[in-house]
Amino acid sequence: MSERLVSSSAFKTTPLAAAPARPVQPSSGRRDFLRTTAAVGTTLATSAWVARSAYAGGDDLLRIGLVGCGGRGAGAAANALAADKNVKLVALGDTFADRLSQSLENLKKEAGDKVDVPKERCFVGFDAYQKVIDSGVDVVLLCTPPHFRPLHFQAAVAAGKHTFVEKPVAVDASGVRSVLATAELAKQKNLAVVSGLCYRYDQPKRETIARIHNGDIGDVLAINVNYNTGTLWMHPRQAGWSDMEWQVRNWLYFTWLSGDHNVEQHVHSLDKAAWVMRDVPPVQATGLGGRQVRVEPAYGNIYDHHAVVYEYANDVRLFAFCRQQAGCTIDVSDYVMGTKGTADLMRHKITGDAAWRYRGDSPNMYQVEHDELFASIRSGSPLNNSDYMIKSTMLAILGRMATYSGQTITWDQALQSKEDLSPPAYEWTDLAVAPVAMPGITTFV
Ligand SMILES: NC(=O)c1ccc[n+]([C@@H]2O[C@H](COP(=O)([O-])OP(=O)(O)OC[C@H]3O[C@@H](n4cnc5c(N)ncnc54)[C@H](O)[C@@H]3O)[C@@H](O)[C@H]2O)c1
Repeated sequence: MSERLVSSSAFKTTPLAAAPARPVQPSSGRRDFLRTTAAVGTTLATSAWVARSAYAGGDDLLRIGLVGCGGRGAGAAANALAADKNVKLVALGDTFADRLSQSLENLKKEAGDKVDVPKERCFVGFDAYQKVIDSGVDVVLLCTPPHFRPLHFQAAVAAGKHTFVEKPVAVDASGVRSVLATAELAKQKNLAVVSGLCYRYDQPKRETIARIHNGDIGDVLAINVNYNTGTLWMHPRQAGWSDMEWQVRNWLYFTWLSGDHNVEQHVHSLDKAAWVMRDVPPVQATGLGGRQVRVEPAYGNIYDHHAVVYEYANDVRLFAFCRQQAGCTIDVSDYVMGTKGTADLMRHKITGDAAWRYRGDSPNMYQVEHDELFASIRSGSPLNNSDYMIKSTMLAILGRMATYSGQTITWDQALQSKEDLSPPAYEWTDLAVAPVAMPGITTFV
């Protein structure tokens, strides 16, 4: 895709003064889904028939393939299998046979005969994604480390597959531009693209943010998001592992694979802030960050803390903090300060003139995203979350560009960045670890 297309149409801002959204009514998730699909069955019979006739097997069965059989991939597959009566998991792909067989075993226990993955449809290696896509599936779940998402998304959409796309969708601006082009193609092909930014499918958050959009805290002045946690898993290097195998198995800790934790994990918080801001991008970002405690080579080259201030055209500031350090206060929280009150996004509470607290149902958001994905495919009107999944990923990458370089970086500069973190080849061989970024020394490219 041309650079011109990227800067012109794809990230056009929507006015902040757009008509306020109505609060979303609480729903009972699965029950509503069943009601919706029943209604769809009677009122959209024609489009449902059109959609049905297009399924890979020429029947009513939706066949699912999973790429990336780790914790989230197995979780997403289980959600997908519970989302629709007539679905089967038929193909699995992973770089490692051990990860694949572990997930297959667990999924068989959980979902029984909805799992129909014989050996011939278990694919291992860097090209496993293409083999899953080519194995006669309708829906592909993309759940590898984020680096691979642009390539896998492109291949899935090129082959006409509906996708569930885990967050984040890229680790650098080159990847973001690729995902933008693929998303455009998915729209043209009327393919579903459902994002793993799962808070957008959380009923209490939908209602809290709808109230903010409705003016219940007045005009938004500032947002503070925090993803401060302890440390996560790490697989000590085994004899016989190449550099590439060690890094892919420990993908969290390598910027080329995860984007750093402010992209991989904190994107959830940034996405909630973006949602509040109606997905209008900021003008620029400035940040501080570093690698202070988690400094051993086993932890690759990512930072263990980032603090970023994003500035918006309407003078709103977003203060975004994330930390992965043991022994410190754990705090995953988001606050939106307005002229008439404050919203607590994680506790679903508003204080101030229109004080309120969410008291409705809280259906499992991971399940809801798949319920809505499959219902939308059945209806012939597939959901497409591309716009926000791309912008929120870019927001996180912009933050890392600011913390790594120590410079104030504008949204437009970030989007046009020439940085491409890809390794020279996807091969199980030597791969040097890029130096840890040093603010003031590491340059923005
Ligand atoms: N939405 C959420 O709340 C949520 C929660 C956890 C993880 N995630 C996201 O899901 C993705 C996976 O995370 P996870 O926790 O499952 O990690 P994981 O390490 O448990 O699983 C990743 C799997 O992908 C495999 N893999 C690596 N490179 C591959 C490639 N090129 N082709 C095929 N398979 C490959 C790995 O071997 C591994 O089995 C990440 O993007 C992560 O950010 C989202």
